[in-house]
Amino acid sequence: MNNEPRLIRLPIIPDNRGNLSFIEEGCQTSFPIQRLYWIYDVPGGETRDGHAYKKNRELIVALSGSFDIEIFDGKGYQTFTLNRSYNALEIPPGIWREINNFSSNAIALVIASEPYNESDYIRDIESYKQMYDAD
Ligand code: TYD
Repeated sequence: MNNEPRLIRLPIIPDNRGNLSFIEEGCQTSFPIQRLYWIYDVPGGETRDGHAYKKNRELIVALSGSFDIEIFDGKGYQTFTLNRSYNALEIPPGIWREINNFSSNAIALVIASEPYNESDYIRDIESYKQMYDAD
């Protein structure tokens, strides 16, 4: 399975009445979907705390508004801006990620491969670096 964060262009059904995009398990996801959650009512400019997962893989979509996802893979940083609802960012396990710079109307939909499990989280960047340091 893919181990790099990657942007996925979702299908778009263009329509004058409003466009439509979709995600089907196994087509736009490389994993069985076990959980959906969404982050909303975020004050503009707010930052969510960073973390990595040991096992959970996820796809993030900006259903509304925009935000930045900062990725750290133990070696380098990358920033992805999500601002269109036909783009999704797939984040494999073992990647540190922080979501920041929310616009005031942003909604982040997260499609996850695992049920919520606090013990799957690495919430401390120093512990993360120790676990994933390539050197
Ligand atoms: P968390 O994943 O830590 O969000 P962030 O890192 O963006 O702040 O989740 C915040 C809280 O919500 C945390 O106490 C756990 C709880 N939570 C659930 O109960 N179920 C879930 O599916 C998620 C994602 C979080």
